[in-house]
Amino acid sequence: MKLRIAVLPGDGVGPEVTREAVRVLRAVSDVNGYDFEFHEYLIGGAAYDAEGLPLPQRTLDGCLESDAVLLGAVGGPKYDFLPPELRSEAGLLSLRKALGVFANLRPAIAYEAVADCSPIRPEVLRGANILIVRELLGGVYFGRPRGRDEHGAYDTMRYSAQEIERVARIAFEQARLRRRHLTSVDKANVLETSRLWRQVVSDLAQEYPEVKLDHAYVDSFAMQLIASPSRFDVVVTENLFGDVLSDESAVLSGSLGMLGSASIGGKVGLFEPIHGSAPDIAGKNIANPMGAIASAAMLLRFAAGLQRDADDVEAAIGRVLEKGCVTADLRSEKRQTTLSTREVGDEVERALTDLLSQRLAYHAV
Ligand code: IPM
Ligand code: MN
Repeated sequence: MKLRIAVLPGDGVGPEVTREAVRVLRAVSDVNGYDFEFHEYLIGGAAYDAEGLPLPQRTLDGCLESDAVLLGAVGGPKYDFLPPELRSEAGLLSLRKALGVFANLRPAIAYEAVADCSPIRPEVLRGANILIVRELLGGVYFGRPRGRDEHGAYDTMRYSAQEIERVARIAFEQARLRRRHLTSVDKANVLETSRLWRQVVSDLAQEYPEVKLDHAYVDSFAMQLIASPSRFDVVVTENLFGDVLSDESAVLSGSLGMLGSASIGGKVGLFEPIHGSAPDIAGKNIANPMGAIASAAMLLRFAAGLQRDADDVEAAIGRVLEKGCVTADLRSEKRQTTLSTREVGDEVERALTDLLSQRLAYHAV
């Protein structure tokens, strides 16, 4: 198994959490005897500082030559006053677009071991395990025209039926692999793009009779996601709704630092935690690396087809949480001692190496 991975640490806590994710991938490669190659490139503010652009050509070329891209985070206060096209976020959006990754998978799991860190009552939280499938290349993020005139400012929300169908298809496929329940979230009582969204998703449902499809309005869904999270399985929604709802879903996991993501459907898959660059805690070795490590697991699953290794990484995350080894964002009454970013990475690597060698030993018999 040979894999070329482009590593884009980016800004803020990006480099610290990405380092731990790379370590986990190296462990998978070493124990199994795979050949993973890592190539580092600049993105975001780090790229702007070095080369004056948030997405240098060399970075884009490197990503396109790779089998997968592992990204940390972009942005920081230092870059917030740049013109829109030089902002770090623009670099990330251009990268997503250039890779063609239109479907962004964001799982949110309520781990029992850290349930006390969620403001949601334990009996409401129990068993919650949601996959948000966010459309990533359309909607108001990319719609034109946008700009300013004498009256104010404007953005454009735009979707083609084909853009809706391709992401909905991925959501149905994921639902088929899980609990076969898909909730499509829109604002069809107000927005024309949402009325088209609902129509296209409903039509496509005919091809997936085994999946139960529900529709929900985004405002009501935002409330239900917190009020009764265990009712949902896979959720599909447009770009901006998905951005907002996926941060909200992090409340199920106790911390924004827990969630990873996979952006797929294009030439090369992009894997990144959903959290931002968290400049206030950058460089302190306290950021939660679990979201980055969970993204690495998804990289194994979606970019390399290494299903069992991905499962092992996820199982290792679970074991480490059960041991109570967490970073400070998951401190609670029952867990007063917390570990550093690096120490949590150590723990995951150790748990993973155990799991992988057990599996190899089993197969060797
Ligand atoms: C995310 C982030 C990005 C987004 C920003 C950094 C452009 O918030 O991945 O959720 O809005 O998509
Ligand atoms: Mn976001």
